[in-house]
Amino acid sequence: MTTATTAVAPTPEAATRPRRRRHLLSSADLSLPEIREILDTAAEMHEVQRRDVKKLPTLRGRTVVNLFFEDSTRTRSSFEIAGKWLSADVINVSGKGSSTSKGESLRDTVLTVAAMGVDALVIRHGASGAAHQVSQWVDAHVVNAGDGMHEHPTQALLDAYTMERRLGSLEGRHVAIVGDLTHSRVVRSNLITLGRLGARVTLVAPPTLMPAGIGAWSQSDGFALSHDLDEVLPGVDVVMMLRVQRERMSGGFFPTPREYTVGYGLTRDRLRTLVAANPEAVICHPGPMNRGLEIAADAADAAQSLILEQVSAGVAVRMSVLYHLLAGSDERPGHDHEGGES
Ligand code: CP
Repeated sequence: MTTATTAVAPTPEAATRPRRRRHLLSSADLSLPEIREILDTAAEMHEVQRRDVKKLPTLRGRTVVNLFFEDSTRTRSSFEIAGKWLSADVINVSGKGSSTSKGESLRDTVLTVAAMGVDALVIRHGASGAAHQVSQWVDAHVVNAGDGMHEHPTQALLDAYTMERRLGSLEGRHVAIVGDLTHSRVVRSNLITLGRLGARVTLVAPPTLMPAGIGAWSQSDGFALSHDLDEVLPGVDVVMMLRVQRERMSGGFFPTPREYTVGYGLTRDRLRTLVAANPEAVICHPGPMNRGLEIAADAADAAQSLILEQVSAGVAVRMSVLYHLLAGSDERPGHDHEGGES
């Protein structure tokens, strides 16, 4: 997204200043000042969640369509709540139950929805690059809510927001991201966002779940790789467990679920090790969790777990993203008098 016309984060009540319109397709779209601005605004939006009356007038008259071709609980609900608390009209369209089940193409579905005059499309799709493709077809703002195994930029923003609220600045903090890296869009977005915030990241996975080309990427972007969770765990400030995405696995990525847990699960014993080594260390998981596989119930429900705080932050961060994209924009993207790319 482009830098807003003012660097000062607005109070929610005054959040009507003009903003340039852009898409949010990749975490790489966001410079460090833009990340900071979104997180700062999210902190203000988070205050709204504590009020009895949560509505702000900011996006009155705007229409946001959640277009979800893959299942979701957290992302879709939080974008819906975020839009509604900002007074936008929010419509949910899912692959199941839409005319895609009758053979309509993605392009025709998207053009059909866009033709109704929507201001923003929040899209989740199983194909990597789908959100970028959609942004080429429509005049509306496009937010990537997860595209295949590529990226999930608002997840990375809410993860960073949650970690910062507990730990303060992430500069120099050690974050281990553990598990099914191959199929994870969360890890790609987190590597970018955490890197820009100055965190030190170690990816931990069995060799079969390390993505192809990760060695060269780790060298160019300066993160570490490990196959040994027990070696890494005592030195971390944050351990982020990733879901084993069995629905994306066609072959045997690990011998048995039990062996995966023994090697890479955040078990009760590893929770003890984590806390003994660093009592301030925290546990994250983007969800949904496979309890008993990548994370034990003791760890998911531990005092160190920020998992429900991540969910709560999801609404505030998505309010902030919608605000930065939509508030104060009077023209359709692509017709920005300020010359902003849309
Ligand atoms: N973390 C995440 O994207 O969860 P959902 O699939 O429930 O949206």
